[in-house]
Amino acid sequence: MDVQVVNCMTCEEFVRVFGNVVERCPLIAAALWSRRPFSSTLELENGFNEFIDSLSIEGKEGILRCHPDLAGRELLAGTLTVESRGEQGHAGLTSLSSADALRMNQLNSQYKEQFGFPFVICARMSDKDRILQQLESRVRNQQLQELQCGIEEVKSICRLRLQDIYNRAAKSTK
Ligand code: GUN
Repeated sequence: MDVQVVNCMTCEEFVRVFGNVVERCPLIAAALWSRRPFSSTLELENGFNEFIDSLSIEGKEGILRCHPDLAGRELLAGTLTVESRGEQGHAGLTSLSSADALRMNQLNSQYKEQFGFPFVICARMSDKDRILQQLESRVRNQQLQELQCGIEEVKSICRLRLQDIYNRAAKSTK
């Protein structure tokens, strides 16, 4: 996608295209629209990162709380966003054995009890074994350290979602 196309979007179009780059946080895209014109698509990605980094602790926790549990109730109910469903499928979470699903649910609950927000990891850069291992290890982190860890994962998710949007646009203009 050419950055000029991005710069010409109305706020409505921009939010439709970029509104779920940060899971269930369209407000971030709506806010970033005001920063046009962007000189490059990288500048837009940096905009997402800077916006997230500038938030208070409560704001960052709020972003994490907008993420569904991995292999959780929403996956079973079919209510995940398209992006989250794809990422969880990529990591093999849509075909877990019942033992692994139980373990993941137990660890997710323990993690949420400990920190007050859900465990977020860039599922597309991971797989079920690594996710279970990271859940077990990150639950031992300090509160602020873990908040920052979750936020860095959000930024990785964001980068891959933006790449998908650009790739899809490039294909559709071929
Ligand atoms: N990693 C990639 N997508 C997601 C998601 O939707 N939820 C969580 N918890 N982690 C993710």
